[in-house]
Amino acid sequence: MLRRARPTWKLVNLDALTYAGNVENVKDVGEDEHCAFVHGNVANAALVAGLFARYDFASVLHLAAESHVDRSIVGPQLFVETNICGTHTLLEAVRAHANVRFIQVSTDEVYGSAASGQCFTEATPLQPTNPYAASKAAADLLALAYQRTYGLDIVVTRCTNNFGPYQFPEKLIPLMCINALEDKQLPIYGDGAQERDWLHVEDHCSALLAILERGKSGSTYNIGTGQTCTNLTIATRILAHLGKPDSLIRHISDRPGHDRRYALDSARLRSELGWMPRYGLGDALTKTIDWYVENRGWWERVLSGAYRTAPANEFPSRA
Ligand code: TYD
Repeated sequence: MLRRARPTWKLVNLDALTYAGNVENVKDVGEDEHCAFVHGNVANAALVAGLFARYDFASVLHLAAESHVDRSIVGPQLFVETNICGTHTLLEAVRAHANVRFIQVSTDEVYGSAASGQCFTEATPLQPTNPYAASKAAADLLALAYQRTYGLDIVVTRCTNNFGPYQFPEKLIPLMCINALEDKQLPIYGDGAQERDWLHVEDHCSALLAILERGKSGSTYNIGTGQTCTNLTIATRILAHLGKPDSLIRHISDRPGHDRRYALDSARLRSELGWMPRYGLGDALTKTIDWYVENRGWWERVLSGAYRTAPANEFPSRA
């Protein structure tokens, strides 16, 4: 947004820098006078209240979340604390200040698994099937309840699976790219025929910007491209692009409660706000694979844990 879409905006980036946070990802805006970085947690009410008192926020784009389903299965508590209590903390701050627009960034996973041929609309009942998805559904409902009860300016967005550069290698696409580059096995849960609708991160950003500026308060907007693909196809395309053998694919035990299929109908976003994705899955996947090829240093520092050392020295909080 700072470099292209809205260069005059002032942004305050609040990030807890947990395991998936990496200051290197935002280093290029570190010296920008329009951007302040604050190392802290959205569930810290005193910190959040202090930021609201200090800055005259026009809007809050709430993207802070624990987001990995497998981690939520192993340890759900953090998901309740960050995703539900963190959202509640931000909503309370918005309630205490007039005229702040709040965008709750959520996920298609709140709808649960789609039947073959089914496409979720915003009116589809929520049926989350894992602790991560349930925590996001709870936060969405809380946000919409605050909009109705207190008359606040709040919009909910639900995106499909994101991919692109700088993605933490616990998610399917970066994990498969990096494992293939290292000639390691590609772990595919179950038969690998699960389908996801893939959204390039920059298309997600352009949708969020449109919703932030023009979305209707109290509304929910699905953000998807309709480019569904099985996990196995993603893995084989990555191997083919890198010239690696399919024999690297290894089918492992399925994820408990694994949703078979996600598919979103985002007609509302397209017709009301005129949003269109710019990236096709084929080209964007190839470019993304190439990014992981060209940025070996980035993911090697992630894998070694070097990215976690002394973030405050590299990127001091200037707020
Ligand atoms: P993931 O990237 O974790 O996103 P989500 O769970 O939000 O969809 O997983 C995408 C799909 O890939 C999902 O069906 C699980 C599958 N998957 C594997 O088969 N192996 C893996 O190692 C990972 C991380 C995911």
